[in-house]
Amino acid sequence: MNQEYTVDPSRLVSPDMTPADAEEVSLRPKTLDDYIGQEKVKGNLRIYLRAAQQRGEAMDHILLYGPPGLGKTTLAGIVAAEMGVQIRITSGPAIEKPGDLAALLTNLQEGDILFIDEIHRLSRQVEEVLYPALEDFALDIMIGKGPAAQSIRINLPHFTLVGATTRAGQLTGPLRDRFGIILKLEPYSPDELASIIVRSAGILNVPITREGALELAKCARGTPRIANRMLKRVRDFATVQGDGTIDREAAVTARRQMDIDELGLDEMDRSVLRAIIELYGGGPVGLETLAANLGEESVTLEDVCEPYLMQLGFLTRTPRGRCVTRLAYEHLHMAVPRRLNGDEDDGQTSMY
Ligand code: ADE
Repeated sequence: MNQEYTVDPSRLVSPDMTPADAEEVSLRPKTLDDYIGQEKVKGNLRIYLRAAQQRGEAMDHILLYGPPGLGKTTLAGIVAAEMGVQIRITSGPAIEKPGDLAALLTNLQEGDILFIDEIHRLSRQVEEVLYPALEDFALDIMIGKGPAAQSIRINLPHFTLVGATTRAGQLTGPLRDRFGIILKLEPYSPDELASIIVRSAGILNVPITREGALELAKCARGTPRIANRMLKRVRDFATVQGDGTIDREAAVTARRQMDIDELGLDEMDRSVLRAIIELYGGGPVGLETLAANLGEESVTLEDVCEPYLMQLGFLTRTPRGRCVTRLAYEHLHMAVPRRLNGDEDDGQTSMY
């Protein structure tokens, strides 16, 4: 392993929830009106909520999909609060056996919400139990074994399943078909993130200017969870090194001290790009080879680093491997190879 390219797994800019994010719960909006951004999703949800309320029925089952950290759990909580019902929160990997799911379902009350995060990770046996529960609000249970075995049906209350996944494509067809409402969450704009930061700063009693918030927002990778985490770290810098207020200058200083650049890239992202450039002339290089060079698992690179680098147009996946683009060279202030000069942002075309 090349030390120069070592990566740090506990990253400030990771979109995944960590124990240190526990305070995030207090920052979550409780109503749709307080929820910033995702205008299309919000608009549709408002209609579905009102329709269900007018009919006095439970909401249809809802699938939320999109990258981590965009507010899927928050939205499920809002649906529960707006419907005035309870929410039970669990995740695909936590429901190990059909019996675990049966226990959850039989404890629900009429109209309640069952939120299953990472729903694409449910086992097949558990999924089989879920189908009749979603469709007929019933649980089929086998009693006894062998020829004397009998199936009995238990009726369940009308509940709403809210499933969340980062990978809608990994859901089985039959499961996807049982969701009446499918909503896709998109990355937030810097302006929306700045508004979220200002709102969170208000709750945390941190003085902040709009320019300071915008500076943090620009490097939050479209993700409120990262934005809120940055806010808390930069608050520390502003408290110790400044007068406590986060203005543009305080935000820039803190960001630099944390080795995060103006696009939100950290040392891990830059390591990936530099490794491809310095060890493989800009690529192509296979994912496994690259992961070995960085001392990382290939899935970590694929799920944690690559999505944002590709979103920025810094990295492309080609059949022969990963390539960096001209934009990446320019961002790192490295000399752009001749073969990339004149191309838009395509690392795999013309050799001349
Ligand atoms: N905190 C996290 N996500 C949020 C959002 N979308 N709106 C307001 N506050 C948030």
